[in-house]
Amino acid sequence: MRLILLGSPGAGKGTQAKFITEKYHIPQISTGDMLRAAIQDETGLGTTVKQIVESGQLVPDAVMIQLVEQRIQQSDCIHGFLLDGFPRTVPQAEALRLRHIYIDFVIDINVNEEELIKRLSGRRIHPASGRVYHLLYHPPHIAGKDDVTGEPLIQRPDDQEDTVRKRLSIYHQQTALLRDYYMQQAAKHMAQAPCYAEIEGHAAVEVVRDKIFSILTIKKGVSQ
Ligand code: AP5
Repeated sequence: MRLILLGSPGAGKGTQAKFITEKYHIPQISTGDMLRAAIQDETGLGTTVKQIVESGQLVPDAVMIQLVEQRIQQSDCIHGFLLDGFPRTVPQAEALRLRHIYIDFVIDINVNEEELIKRLSGRRIHPASGRVYHLLYHPPHIAGKDDVTGEPLIQRPDDQEDTVRKRLSIYHQQTALLRDYYMQQAAKHMAQAPCYAEIEGHAAVEVVRDKIFSILTIKKGVSQ
């Protein structure tokens, strides 16, 4: 199964990706996690994108397309993958189509802006594993520590409120266009168009998870 999770910053893409990849045994390709790992390791890519990512701007399409194309060629993607954070612009989506990288499902998670800001300001992450917590909604067992390793949790530099507002504005200008892009493909029954489903993401994590699972199971008869 090949799947894209769409949704604004803080909609719960990373949180839901963990459930889906575990159930369907496919890798999660989170472009945000890949960029943050490159920044932490101070690679050439990391040095180039650090300022862009931490200030909430988008990394240029050409860089992102090359990064994802290379990742998808790895052997663990043979039976499918989940894209989290890519595509984020219409040219990125077109790049997948032009390379004949066809997608089965696009799941678009909708959450209102007030809730997004609450979620992002309370988010804490374990950088090494990508595990995500929230100070109120999903606190770790011991404050400030990862449940599995006990290592410290951090706040992402781009989760400061002014940067969050900038990310949301960029999302509305560029990424929200993908909703129409995929809806139109589905409506026109374009060859290899993915199945597009919009879901309401305000409910509890497990409720959102079950909605996604039922869409994946019913729409194309995909089973575990
Ligand atoms: P990226 O890491 O992809 O960030 P994002 O899209 O802004 O998404 P987030 O990770 O902030 O949110 P999420 O939807 O995964 O929410 P989460 O599950 O953590 O990208 C970062 C940066 O990298 C970009 O700004 C850009 O610079 C660059 N970049 C990446 N990809 C790019 C691309 N393709 N092109 C160009 N540049 C690119 O949940 C958020 C919080 O809410 C958590 O604390 C969680 O515990 C909580 N939560 C989740 N679900 C629920 C729920 N149902 N109820 C209550 N709390 C919940």
